[in-house]
Amino acid sequence: MKNNENELNRKVRNSFEEKFSQKPLLVHAPGRINLIGDHTDYNNGYVLPAAIDRGITMALAKNGTDTCRLFSLDLKDMQEVSLNTGFIRSDKGWANYIIGVLDGLNSRGTRLEGFDAVFSGNIPIGSGLSSSAALECAAVMGISELLGESLDKEEMIHIAQEAEHKFAGVNCGIMDQFSSVMGKEGHAIRLDCESLQHEYLPLDIKNAGLVLFDTKVSHSLGDSAYNQRRMECETGVSVLRQFFPEVRSLRDADAEMLETVEMPETVFRRCLYVIEENERVVKAGTYLKSGLGKELGKLMFESHDGLSGLYEVSCPELDHLVTEAKKLPQFFGSRMMGGGFGGCTINLISDEGREEGIEKIRSSFGQRFGRELGVYHVQAVEGAHVVT
Ligand code: GLA
Repeated sequence: MKNNENELNRKVRNSFEEKFSQKPLLVHAPGRINLIGDHTDYNNGYVLPAAIDRGITMALAKNGTDTCRLFSLDLKDMQEVSLNTGFIRSDKGWANYIIGVLDGLNSRGTRLEGFDAVFSGNIPIGSGLSSSAALECAAVMGISELLGESLDKEEMIHIAQEAEHKFAGVNCGIMDQFSSVMGKEGHAIRLDCESLQHEYLPLDIKNAGLVLFDTKVSHSLGDSAYNQRRMECETGVSVLRQFFPEVRSLRDADAEMLETVEMPETVFRRCLYVIEENERVVKAGTYLKSGLGKELGKLMFESHDGLSGLYEVSCPELDHLVTEAKKLPQFFGSRMMGGGFGGCTINLISDEGREEGIEKIRSSFGQRFGRELGVYHVQAVEGAHVVT
């Protein structure tokens, strides 16, 4: 909600003014959820995300030097970056997202100048709600605005994504950065990750809403597995192409093609999941348009089964949450969300009996894993913006 953002903005502004005695420019970039369509983005497929009312706010002002002083308010950690020595990876993970953006702006010819920046966020770290994309998007919007460089939104999205590839070492798709920049209040985005064509669909399901359950298992260990999944899909495409030259990515393939060629069993399962998930996203979009919650929910359960069984990016905590949700009539659908190996499930839950359903899941999770489940209620909001 707007209140969350206002509070965060105030905190970051105050801290900047205290630290650097200047009035800053303020930008905010949100995290994202994804109703359905995971690991489809880097396969040129479809996704159905939304920007949420949790994000990152960054305050910036020029400092008249050749150095950028970057301060993470949450970690109380400072990183200085000289503009004269070329951009190299830092041993501070958080700083790399911003250094990556500086590198991207520099490579496309932006005349960089020294600045001071303070940022803070209210996205639980490691929860799979794309805090890293929010930081990249806040940085690219903030720095370009500060320097008077007019970038269009698509350029910002690409610079942010490249920062993740080159400086965080994750060969991510475009969903997170796209959602953070392009979000729209009250809407999900039906995005074709090949053409970037998109449509906003009202996130408005009769008598039902969303809730997130956070396993608090940090998914950061999943980075190498993520890149490996991407490579397995690429292997699948190169095998398919020998027989079906028209297949440029898995979005061009179907299950029948897959059955006719020979490939390693693991690669086959990865490809099958992606092909089926793309079909689900297309259907899910039409169900969302017609407000058909139960039908949409069923696809979410199927998506989880595919992510867990075929794509193998789930974990016992996520599987438990989905299995338990399936037993309760309140839950129309539930699935792990994002890269996997931890983080959150996204749940479509009926308004009637909502609290009771949440409590049941909370207590069963506590009993099984001996720790507290995170429960988040989120709203769809507009994408990255300058705070006025
Ligand atoms: C991460 C990546 C995205 C996407 C999801 C899985 O969030 O950053 O590009 O691949 O995983 O759908």
